[in-house]
Amino acid sequence: MRIDDAYGRPLRNLRVSVTDRCNLRCQYCMPEEDYVWLPREEILHFEEISALADVFMDLGVDKIRLTGGEPLLRRDLPRLIRLLAAKPRLRDLAITTNGVLLAELAGALKEAGLHRVTVSLDTLRADRFAALTRRQNHAQVLEGIQAVTRAGFTGTKLDTVVIRGVNDDELVDLIEFGKRVAAEVRFIEYMDVGGATRWSMDQVVSRKAMLEILESRYGRIEPVSEQTTAPAERYRLRDGTVFGIISSTTAPFCAECDRSRLTADGMWYLCLYALQGTDLRAPLRRGAKGEELAALITGPWQKRSDRGAEQRLALRERAPLVQVARLKEDPHLEMHTRGG
Ligand code: GTP
Ligand code: 5AD
Ligand code: SF4
Repeated sequence: MRIDDAYGRPLRNLRVSVTDRCNLRCQYCMPEEDYVWLPREEILHFEEISALADVFMDLGVDKIRLTGGEPLLRRDLPRLIRLLAAKPRLRDLAITTNGVLLAELAGALKEAGLHRVTVSLDTLRADRFAALTRRQNHAQVLEGIQAVTRAGFTGTKLDTVVIRGVNDDELVDLIEFGKRVAAEVRFIEYMDVGGATRWSMDQVVSRKAMLEILESRYGRIEPVSEQTTAPAERYRLRDGTVFGIISSTTAPFCAECDRSRLTADGMWYLCLYALQGTDLRAPLRRGAKGEELAALITGPWQKRSDRGAEQRLALRERAPLVQVARLKEDPHLEMHTRGG
C-alpha cells in the first residue's frame, strides 16, 4: 500500500522518539538551563509503539529510525528493537544516538536485531566536546563508536553539525577519523529548528563552503549520482572515500521528503518544522484498532503540504523558529522531543 501526500510524496520513513530525555546538552539542540519534560505516564509503552508501527507499515512505512532525546536512555530498549525487528515488512531499522551509552549497549542492540547505527560526533577534541555538550563524555562516545564496529554493524554513519567558529576547522580530521572506523561521515548544516534558540545565520556553514574547505585539502570532489539520497547529498574523494552533506538550511530536501515523526508520547508530526501534530496516543489508549488508527494517519498525510525547510529558506530575515517561552508551553516543538 502506498499513500501520497499533496505533492506526491509517499509515507515511507518514520522516526520514532523513544524518550525526550538526553544525557548531553548540545548547544544547537538544548542550550537552555531548564526543560519541561513529557510526563512519564504519557510515554508510549513498547507494545503501543509496536502496534502503531504495524498501522504505519500497513500504509507503506518500511523504514523506522529510533531517536530521542537520547534513545539509549530508554530502559530495556533492546526489547523494543526485538519487537520491531521481527516485523518482516520493515526493510530498515536504525537508531540515531549520541554514543555515550553505546560501548555498553552495542552488543545487545545487534543481538536484538537492529540494522544500523548513526552516531552524532561533532568534534574529535575533548575540550570542545565539553564546551559544546556541557558534559564530559567524549572518551565514552569514541569508545562507543569502536564498539559498534566490534558488535558487527555495517553501514554506520557519523553525523556532525557544523557550526562556524566551533568545529568548522575539523572537517578534514573528521573525514580521516571516519576512514579509520569505517563509518560514513555526514556534515549537517546548523538548522533553525525549535530548540535551536541560539541559532543565527552567520553561524551556518553552507554546503558550498564545506565543499570548498574539503576541496582545498583533497582536490576534486565528485558528487555520487544516485536516485534517493535524501537527506544527504553524497560525495566521493579521489581515494574513494564517500561522505555526505545534509544541507537542510541552504538547500532543503523537502521535495523528496517521505518522513514523519512520532514523539515518545504519541504525537505524530508531518514535518520537522510543523507547529501542530496529531495525537495518536489518546485514540490508541481508548482502544481504537487498526482501521480507525489508519484513518487518523491517512487523512492528514493525503493533505500534507508541509515543506518547512523550504519556507524557512524563503524568509528574508531568519531567526530561530520558536521563542523559549513558547517551547516551554509546548515542548513538542523542541528538536529533542521530536527526534533529531
Ligand atoms: P538515513 O539516511 O536513513 O541513514 O537516516 P537519516 O539521515 O534520516 O537520519 P539521521 O537521524 O542521521 O538524520 C540526520 C540529520 O538530518 C538529522 O540529525 C537532522 O539534522 C536532519 N534531518 C533529519 N530529519 C529531518 C527532516 O525531517 N527534515 C529536515 N529538514 N532535516 C532532517
Ligand atoms: N541543526 C542541525 N541538526 C540538529 N540536530 C539537532 N539539532 C540540530 C540543529 N539545530 C540533529 C543533529 C544531531 C541529531 C541528534 O539531531 O544531527 O546529531
Ligand atoms: Fe521534510 Fe519538513 Fe524537513 Fe522539509 S522541513 S525535509 S518537509 S520534515
